[in-house]
Amino acid sequence: MNWEIEFNQIIDDILLNEKFISLKYIIHHGISRLDHSLHVARITFLVCRKFHLKNTAEITRAALLHDFFTNSNEKKAFYKHPTWALENATNEFALNDMQKNIIASHMFPICKTLPNCKESFLVSTIDKVVASYELTKYKAPIEIGAILIFVINFLAIQR
Ligand SMILES: [Fe+2]
Ligand SMILES: [Fe+2]
Repeated sequence: MNWEIEFNQIIDDILLNEKFISLKYIIHHGISRLDHSLHVARITFLVCRKFHLKNTAEITRAALLHDFFTNSNEKKAFYKHPTWALENATNEFALNDMQKNIIASHMFPICKTLPNCKESFLVSTIDKVVASYELTKYKAPIEIGAILIFVINFLAIQR
């Protein structure tokens, strides 16, 4: 089966959930939080599929739900959002213990809950790689542009 069809079958009910879909309105790493979550889930799925992991569907679903939070307090969110995401995910979907740990520990090593299985380490690592890519591609150029405009304006004032 084509991997995209397989991937969509695993996550289709999550994408029909109104609360989850509202993540498309929240900016995260310069793109929407929904797009970031889909990036992490897609890479997770492809890695699991490559290594023929038998719980590929469960890991992929947890990867998609890892940033399921809508709170906007950014400073607090950095440390607390795995807990918020776990609460939202368990309220909306049935999750097993492995999936709960994947979500709660994905900010390892700065979160309270530690990864207790290889699946949690996998998603945590993929999230960091994807976040670094997104920050470089979508966010840093905007900040570099803003700094350049500031410097040009500053130099113009000095003349
Ligand atoms: Fe996160
Ligand atoms: Fe993330």
